[in-house]
Amino acid sequence: MKIILVGPPGAGKGTQAAAISKEFSIPQISTGDMLRAAVKSGSDLGRQVKAVMDAGGLVSDALIIDLVKSRIAQDDCANGFLLDGFPRTIPQAQALIDAGVDIDYVLEIIVSDEEIIERMSGRRIHPGSGRVYHIHHNPPQQAGRDDLTGELLIQRDDDQEGTVRTRLKVYAAQTAPLVEFYKSKQGDGPIYLSVAGVGAVGKITERIISLLTR
Ligand code: AP5
Repeated sequence: MKIILVGPPGAGKGTQAAAISKEFSIPQISTGDMLRAAVKSGSDLGRQVKAVMDAGGLVSDALIIDLVKSRIAQDDCANGFLLDGFPRTIPQAQALIDAGVDIDYVLEIIVSDEEIIERMSGRRIHPGSGRVYHIHHNPPQQAGRDDLTGELLIQRDDDQEGTVRTRLKVYAAQTAPLVEFYKSKQGDGPIYLSVAGVGAVGKITERIISLLTR
């Protein structure tokens, strides 16, 4: 099972990816989480990408393509994987095709910009694992603490409203065209599916699992 999740920032890709990867026993590969881990570690890669991420832009295609290719070559991806946040541009999608990676499903999560702006202000994450919460819609058991480790949750640097608006513009310009790209390949490529990403998190998960197992 090889799945790509597409959707604007804050659509719930990370939230749903955790449930989907558990359901199908495949690793969740979040390029955003990988890049944030690099920034946190202070590595060369982290130093290269921090300013771009903080401003809400996209890091270079070449860099991210190399990162994903080496990740999906690892043993735990032998039976499939879930890509969360990649591809995000047509050249990234083309790189997967050129590398002979056969994707089964492209699943788009659809949420309006207004809903996204509201969600991002309440998002909290566990920096160690990437686990995602929302102070109202998906709260941790203990306020401000991760459910599994009890460690402190943080707000992401790129969740300021102005940066979220920039990320939405970048999504519309560079990532949304992927939907047409994959739709145009129906019958000769991955199956394109879409789901409305509004409402209770568990209900959306149910809809997604039912689409993927139909
Ligand atoms: P990345 O981390 O991938 O950010 P993103 O795509 O902008 O997506 P988010 O993580 O912000 O949102 P999400 O859809 O996962 O939503 P979530 O589940 O958290 O990338 C960050 C940056 O890295 C990029 O800006 C770029 O610079 C760089 N980057 C990454 N990949 C790249 C690539 N391929 N190429 C180039 N650059 C790349 O949910 C959001 C909130 O809503 C949470 O609080 C959640 O609890 C809540 N929520 C979820 N579902 C619901 C619901 N149904 N109702 C109410 N609230 C909900």
